[in-house]
Amino acid sequence: MRQEELREEILKLKEGRNAAILAHNYQRTEIQLLADYIGDSLDLARYSAKVDAELILLAGVNFMAETAALLNPDKTVLIPDPAAECPMAAQLPARVVREAREKHPDAAVVLYVNTLAEAKAEADVICTSANAPLIVDALDEEEVLFGPDKNLAWFVQRRTDKAIIPLPEDGCCYVHRMFAPADIALLKEKYPDAEVLVHPECDPEVQQLADHICSTSQMLLRARASPAKRFIIGTEVGMVERLRRENPGKEFIPALETAICQQMKKHTLEKVYLSLRDRKHVVTVSPNIAGRARAAIERMLEISGRATRD
Ligand code: 13P
Ligand code: SF4
Repeated sequence: MRQEELREEILKLKEGRNAAILAHNYQRTEIQLLADYIGDSLDLARYSAKVDAELILLAGVNFMAETAALLNPDKTVLIPDPAAECPMAAQLPARVVREAREKHPDAAVVLYVNTLAEAKAEADVICTSANAPLIVDALDEEEVLFGPDKNLAWFVQRRTDKAIIPLPEDGCCYVHRMFAPADIALLKEKYPDAEVLVHPECDPEVQQLADHICSTSQMLLRARASPAKRFIIGTEVGMVERLRRENPGKEFIPALETAICQQMKKHTLEKVYLSLRDRKHVVTVSPNIAGRARAAIERMLEISGRATRD
C-alpha cells in the first residue's frame, strides 16, 4: 500500500476501533503526523493515564508501552513492533536493584522511566528526564540509588544535596553517548548566536557545553520561548524534525546527524496499520509485578502533578 493509502486506512481504523495513537518525539515524521499526541516520556505517561479511548497504540520503545499498559489496566495497549526495545532499559535487571537495596538499606530507590516493569516494581518512585531532580528532592531519604543512566545521575547530583549512587555504575544510552564535546565546540564556534540544548543522557562534558539541559519536550518549550533564532540540538534526530516542523521561523542544527535510535525507528506506517488492523502486539505486564510498578509510576505522577499545581 502507498503511504497515502496507509494513512487513510489508519485513520479509519483509529476511528472504528476508538483508538488513540501516542507517539514519542523520536518517531518517524509520518507517524508523528498521525498521532493524537506526541511527547516525551513524562507527557506520554500523563496523557495515557487520562486518554478517552478503548485502545492505545503506543509508537515508542518497550518501556513506554509498558508504562501506558500499567496505567491503563482496563484498556488494550498495542506496540506496532515489539522489537522496539530500549537497550538502556535492559541494563538494570530487578535482581541488581534488590542487591543494591540490601547493601544500602537507608537509601531510596529512584529509577528512570527507561527501565523494564520488573525493575520498576523494585523502585520507590520513577522519574523521567523532565522531572528527575524534583522527584529526588521530594523524598525524605538523604541517599538515593539512581539508575540506570549514569549521565542522568550526574545531572541530578549537580542539582541536589543528596548523595546519588548510580546503579549500575556505567548505564548509558548508546545514542546520546555518540555526541562528542569537540563537535559541539566546533558548532558553537561556527554559530556563536546559537543556543545549545542537550538531553541529560549526554555525557557530562557535553552537558557542560550546553545552555539548557532538557527532556525532549522541554526542548520544544525552550525553542518556542527563547528569543534565539538558531539552536544546536544534542539529542536523537527525530526531535530535530519536530522542532523544525513546529518552529518554521527558527533554525535547528543537529549536533550529530547520525544520532539515530534504531529501536525507536523500528515502527513504520505499515506496522502501525497492521497493529491496529490485527490488534497486535498487545503489551502485557505480569500481575506479580504490575501493582508495585504502577505504584512507583503513580507516585512520580503525583509528585510532579503537585509541583505543577504549586
Ligand atoms: P524523553 O523523556 O526526554 O523524551 O527521553 C526519552 C528517551 O528515551 C531519551 O533517549
Ligand atoms: Fe533508549 Fe537511547 Fe533510544 Fe532513548 S535514545 S529509547 S534511551 S536507546
